Amino acid sequence: MIIAVDGPTASGKGTIAKALAAHFGLPHLDTGLLYRAVGRQVSLNGGNPDDAEDALAATGFADSLLDDPQLRDEETGGLASRVSVHQAVRQALFERQRAFATQDGGAILDGRDIGTVIAPEAEAKLFITASVEARAQRRFVEMRERGAGVTLLEIQDDLRRRDERDRNRAVAPLIPAENAMVIDTSALGKDEAIAAAIEAVTEAVS
Ligand code: DC
Repeated sequence: MIIAVDGPTASGKGTIAKALAAHFGLPHLDTGLLYRAVGRQVSLNGGNPDDAEDALAATGFADSLLDDPQLRDEETGGLASRVSVHQAVRQALFERQRAFATQDGGAILDGRDIGTVIAPEAEAKLFITASVEARAQRRFVEMRERGAGVTLLEIQDDLRRRDERDRNRAVAPLIPAENAMVIDTSALGKDEAIAAAIEAVTEAVS
């Protein structure tokens, strides 16, 4: 069974995907990390994330980079969003994601284009969304705990910019797959969101 979980930044898709993986006993791949590694590698190379050749060169990052805690930073998230607009970058990361999705026994992947491009045959497709305000508030609390000095408004602006780039890019834009189940987590607590996702997947595969 393949489960595809797509949605914008800070929608809760990562938390939901991890919980689904534990519930259904499936291996999980956070595909955003691959794009974040490319973004970080461009920066380590002194390259330009908006340049397709520089971004493509960075897809040869070492696997050890995936464990770098800096990948989770807002700054790396922004770089990831910029390198992800290049078709050559998406193509270079395709096989790795496809192989993970089609492994024996099934898998769960979260990202932006899992249900539309990477695994259109997935048995269950979820699109996790939430208002910019709700997502910014969650990110704000997370960042305050980490001691980062950003304001709620700055986070909202950044999320809007990244949403716009992810939704309007020419290749593999962030849109729900035709047969995806949309879950809006704006007014849901973590446990409620996870329960709604488990119910939706159970329904889809039964
Ligand atoms: O999910 P995330 O915030 O870690 O993703 C970072 C960026 O990577 C996001 O802004 C767009 C890009 N991305 C993508 O284009 N396709 C994916 N499957 C996953 C992430």
